[in-house]
Amino acid sequence: MQAKTPEQSKTILTDVVLPGETNALNSLFGGELLARMDRAASISASRHCRQIVVTASVNHVAFTRSVPLGSVVTVEAKVSRAFKTSMEVFIDVWIEDRTSGEKLKANEGIYTFVAVDETGKPVTVPEVVPETELEKQRFEAALRRKQLSLVLAGKMKPNEATELKALFV
Ligand SMILES: CC(C)(COP(=O)(O)OP(=O)(O)OC[C@H]1O[C@@H](n2cnc3c(N)ncnc32)[C@H](O)[C@@H]1OP(=O)(O)O)[C@@H](O)C(=O)NCCC(=O)NCCS
Repeated sequence: MQAKTPEQSKTILTDVVLPGETNALNSLFGGELLARMDRAASISASRHCRQIVVTASVNHVAFTRSVPLGSVVTVEAKVSRAFKTSMEVFIDVWIEDRTSGEKLKANEGIYTFVAVDETGKPVTVPEVVPETELEKQRFEAALRRKQLSLVLAGKMKPNEATELKALFV
């Protein structure tokens, strides 16, 4: 199975914020943004492995900046690391200033997808070869995040999480 770069799974979803998608402060409703992130990340994971993929876990989401009504929102997703059957997808969210066109980072998230066959059984995926400095940083930290996610889900014992333990010793 041929390894792929994060660039090969890059998926960009650009859309506007409509009135039905906002909260009482006229900003984008968090759940709506999560859905957009999940959609872009799912396409990205599927581009990486060319299989059916399912969301296994939402590992991290940071809502650092609110997204006002009418904003143009760009969600960019790339596979940051692949394991045996699972893939970590990093999602960066940008809003575009209407007049200057300048892009401001609004949010980011990290999701885990698993490639499955027609019966829902996990199947193996290609490796990721990071290219840029940022991609290399995200690749390096991905195993720690996977172990944390598995520990929190009760699927790994804390004393087996070697990468996590290494942070504290
Ligand atoms: C995700 C799913 C396929 C995993 O099935 P499973 O029987 O737990 O399979 P495994 O234990 O072999 O795990 C498969 C991979 O997922 C990883 N994984 C499972 N749960 C995880 C979690 N919470 N966080 C991170 N990785 C996880 C495992 O580590 C393994 O990775 P690897 O093969 O790369 O090492 C299964 O739980 C599922 O179908 N869930 C529903 C998915 C879905 O419907 N999503 C949409 C929600 S509406």
